[in-house]
Amino acid sequence: MRSGGDAPVTVTHLTAPTDHRAQMIEDVRHGLTAYRKHLASKYFYDARGSELFDQITRLPEYYLTRAETEILSERADEIMKDVQPDELIELGSGSSHKTHLLVEAMYRSSTGRRYVPVDISEEALRTAASRLCDDYEWLEVEGLVGDYVPDLGKIRRRGRRIIVFLGSTIGNYVPTLRHSLLRSVADALEPGDGFVLGLDLVKDEPTMIAAYDDAQGVSAEFNKNILYVINRELGGDIPVDAFEHVTRFDRELACMAQSLRASREVVANIRALDLAVTFIAGEEIHTEVSCKFSKPQVEQEFDAAGMRLDSWFMDDGEGFAVAVASLQPPQEDSNLRQPN
Ligand code: TRP
Repeated sequence: MRSGGDAPVTVTHLTAPTDHRAQMIEDVRHGLTAYRKHLASKYFYDARGSELFDQITRLPEYYLTRAETEILSERADEIMKDVQPDELIELGSGSSHKTHLLVEAMYRSSTGRRYVPVDISEEALRTAASRLCDDYEWLEVEGLVGDYVPDLGKIRRRGRRIIVFLGSTIGNYVPTLRHSLLRSVADALEPGDGFVLGLDLVKDEPTMIAAYDDAQGVSAEFNKNILYVINRELGGDIPVDAFEHVTRFDRELACMAQSLRASREVVANIRALDLAVTFIAGEEIHTEVSCKFSKPQVEQEFDAAGMRLDSWFMDDGEGFAVAVASLQPPQEDSNLRQPN
C-alpha cells in the first residue's frame, strides 16, 4: 500500500474531450427516429448501469466472467512468458480480478511495470487506476481516455507491448466494426508483441439465453437502465415500465441480440431533442449484440486483420476462450521471387 498522494497515475485525453452531451443528443435522435429504432450500448453504463453490470458478472447464469477468470488464473504466466512485455495496454479499464492476474504475471515474467488502460470514461479510468496503484507499489499507470479504433495508434510505445481485450467485449461489435478494431490493434503491434482476446463461444441456445435473461431479472434491469439514462440526461418521459427486456439468438450472425419491446403503444417526449417519439405496441428498440465465436472464425478474422493465432486456451467447460495472437510474419512476395 502506498499513500494516495504519490500514486504515479496520469490520465491523458487522446482526443480533445468531445462534448459528450452533444454526441449523446445526436446518437439518440438518430437511433429513435430510425426505421428500426436502436440505442448505442455505451449509454448503459452510468453509475447504476455499471453497478448492475457488476452484478451480472456474478450471476449464476452469466458464465462468461467466471470462465475467463478461470483461464487467466491458470494461463496468465504462460501468456506473459511468451511475450515478456514492458507494458500492458488494456482496452477498457480493468479494476477486476482479471487485470490483477495479468499485471502480476507481467511483473513476474519481465518486471514490466507499465499499465495503460484505455477507456471512453475518464471516471472509470480514475477509479480503476487508483485501485491498482494501491495494490501494487511498483506499478506505473497511464490512463488514456479515448476510443479504440481511431486512437490506438496514438499510444506512445515504451518497449515490448501486450494488448488485452477481455470479457468478450469484442462481441459487442458487428462484423464490419470488429474488422476495423482488429486492424487498429494490428497497427499498434510490432513483431514480438502480443494480443490477448477474451471470446465467448457459440454453445447451446438455452445456456446463452439464460446468460442474458437471468432468473433474478438483473439483465432486464440493466437493459432498461438505458431508458432511465435517456430520461435523466435528455429530459425524457419514456415510461420505462411499458418496455420489456427481450433477448434472442440470431443464428445467421451467431449473436445474442438484446432489445426493449413496447408492450403497448407509447408516445414519449424528449425535451433536449424537442422530439415526440411514437412506439406501436410490440415495437422494439435494439440495444446490443453480443456475438459468439468459434476457433475457425477467430483464426479467419485474425488473418484478415494481419494477425495470426498463436494460442487458444479454453475453460474446463469449453464455453469461453482466451486467444493469443501476434502480427503475421512478413510475407514473401511471390512476384519478386526470381526464377533460378
Ligand atoms: N457486454 C455484455 C455482454 O455482451 C453486456 C450484457 C450482459 C448485456 N448482459 C446483458 C446487455 C443484458 C444487454 C442486456 O455480455
